[in-house]
Amino acid sequence: MSTPYERKDNDSVSNDVVWHNTTVTHQDRVSLKGQTPAVLWFTGLSGSGKSTVANAVESKLLSLGKHSYLLDGDNVRHGLNKDLGFSDEDRVENIRRIGEVAKLFVDSGTLVLTAFISPFISDREQARSLVAEGQFLEVFIDTPLEICEQRDPKGLYKKARAGEIKNFTGIDSAYEAPLKAEIHVETANKSIEECAEAVVNQLQQLGYI
Ligand code: ADX
Repeated sequence: MSTPYERKDNDSVSNDVVWHNTTVTHQDRVSLKGQTPAVLWFTGLSGSGKSTVANAVESKLLSLGKHSYLLDGDNVRHGLNKDLGFSDEDRVENIRRIGEVAKLFVDSGTLVLTAFISPFISDREQARSLVAEGQFLEVFIDTPLEICEQRDPKGLYKKARAGEIKNFTGIDSAYEAPLKAEIHVETANKSIEECAEAVVNQLQQLGYI
């Protein structure tokens, strides 16, 4: 397997920044962990259940003895990405950084779950392009806008409808649904447990765990 973390010829960095190869390789880390690392890229509307399902999937992975890490949109926006808002430009940068962080986790041999709205197809494709073929699985948490709005767990749709939040995804900012996600979960009539099970079953069928 090729290492996902390597210098690319088109990297636009100064000539004075020189790539340093590590002694411990990607393959060493993969062998130690004894698993197939990958990015599970959850995407869906706010309130669709991305974080909740990803969290339940991570618990299942733990009980199967798998090394995982969950990068969650709201949490990452408290730290690494706290300088970013919700303009199209900032969302692009949000996803660019997460793509790069996810790539590092894959290099470490981890199953990394990311739970971000990541509304734009081109950004998700960009994140996919950072890792090797087969190391990126898009997980579409497919919940209709009406249901997300009914659930409104953080009261944000109400605020967006009242004009108190601008650029809210699904209201006055676009969400581009995946066209062919590797894992597609329709949550409307399923419990969290059933959704998480569907993801884990699919991971097993695809040979990742
Ligand atoms: S993304 O579009 O850049 O991928 P991200 O997943 O990081 O979004 O953050 C989305 C979370 O931020 C939502 O679940 C919600 O809690 C909060 N949020 C605050 N303002 C907005 C907004 N204008 N649009 C979407 N989500 C928002």
